[in-house]
Amino acid sequence: MKKILITGALGQIGSELMVALQKRYGHDNVIATDIRRPPQVDGVFEVLDCTCGHRLHETILAHDVGTIYHLAALLSAVAEARPQEAWRVNMDGTLHVLEAARIHGCSVFVPSSIGAFGPTTPADDTPQDTIQRPTSMYGVTKVAGELLCDYYAHRFGVDTRGLRYPGIISNVTPPGGGTTDYAVDIYYSAVQHGKYTCFLREDTFLDMMYMPDAIHAAITLMEADSTKLLHRNAFNVTAMSFTPEQIAAEIRKHLPGFTMEYKIDPVRQGIADSWPNHMDDAAARVEWGWKPEFDLASMTTDMIRVLKNRFGK
Ligand code: NAD
Ligand code: SER
Repeated sequence: MKKILITGALGQIGSELMVALQKRYGHDNVIATDIRRPPQVDGVFEVLDCTCGHRLHETILAHDVGTIYHLAALLSAVAEARPQEAWRVNMDGTLHVLEAARIHGCSVFVPSSIGAFGPTTPADDTPQDTIQRPTSMYGVTKVAGELLCDYYAHRFGVDTRGLRYPGIISNVTPPGGGTTDYAVDIYYSAVQHGKYTCFLREDTFLDMMYMPDAIHAAITLMEADSTKLLHRNAFNVTAMSFTPEQIAAEIRKHLPGFTMEYKIDPVRQGIADSWPNHMDDAAARVEWGWKPEFDLASMTTDMIRVLKNRFGK
């Protein structure tokens, strides 16, 4: 079979997607790449900067690649601190990947985000097709990325597909500098120290998803019948929506002594306030059968079980 290449494979999502793809399609059929070299990796790995077009072409040809999961990006908080670099990595990187896909006939998965929405978007039950005027650099690159993927599909027939992921919660690789990172940090801190200082306000609703559902969504979308995909590059997908107070209350069911303080980061609070409270993901459910397995309660049970084992608590 043609190989599967992942960019940004050492990140929060890539590190777990790599293992899932290896299990599904064969260990040696997955080519993990990232701009940095890991101390060790179980599988085929190449250093690859996604903004370097000729290295992308070389790697695709060398490994006979047919599918690209393009995960390399700067996330919202990092992008806000380094907006020019975010444009270069998120936009130039995506353009190079799409161009390589066009030339070599690859299909491409490019994740978008809740960050593709902005303060003028309806915040509750955010429709699939709605106003998108984001105010963060991350959001600007995500909307432009969605449009660029649409363009490559319509103009050149490239099989591009994508999801608007919410905040992803996981326990393998730490998140890379986003606004939703608190919902991962809180579990580590609760299990290790019994307390957490949250950088978002207690009543900030955001969409979230547990990593197994995020991985399942990407692979299911890439395997879906393309004739059914009306919204091919930007499917709203969510599994739950909660506030910091609500996740803390859920954690207290397992760790009754857990306490939380607040020290608001105005940059990340501003970004969070501009994002939806809860997206409507009906299009994903209808067009390719999206259905999450985990809700806040089952995710919390699993996160605390895994982290307690890891930290010997
Ligand atoms: P991450 O920050 O954890 O990982 C990104 C990886 O990209 C890192 O390993 C980094 O070394 C690599 N990278 C950075 N610049 C690069 C370059 N020039 N060339 C190659 N690699 C480079 O990110 P993630 O959370 O795994 O996110 C993956 C994708 O999913 C991104 O497009 C992100 O916007 C999207 N997404 C993530 C979330 C989330 O909560 N994690 C939510 C919505 C969307
Ligand atoms: N988790 C991501 C972020 O906060 C959402 O795209 O940047």
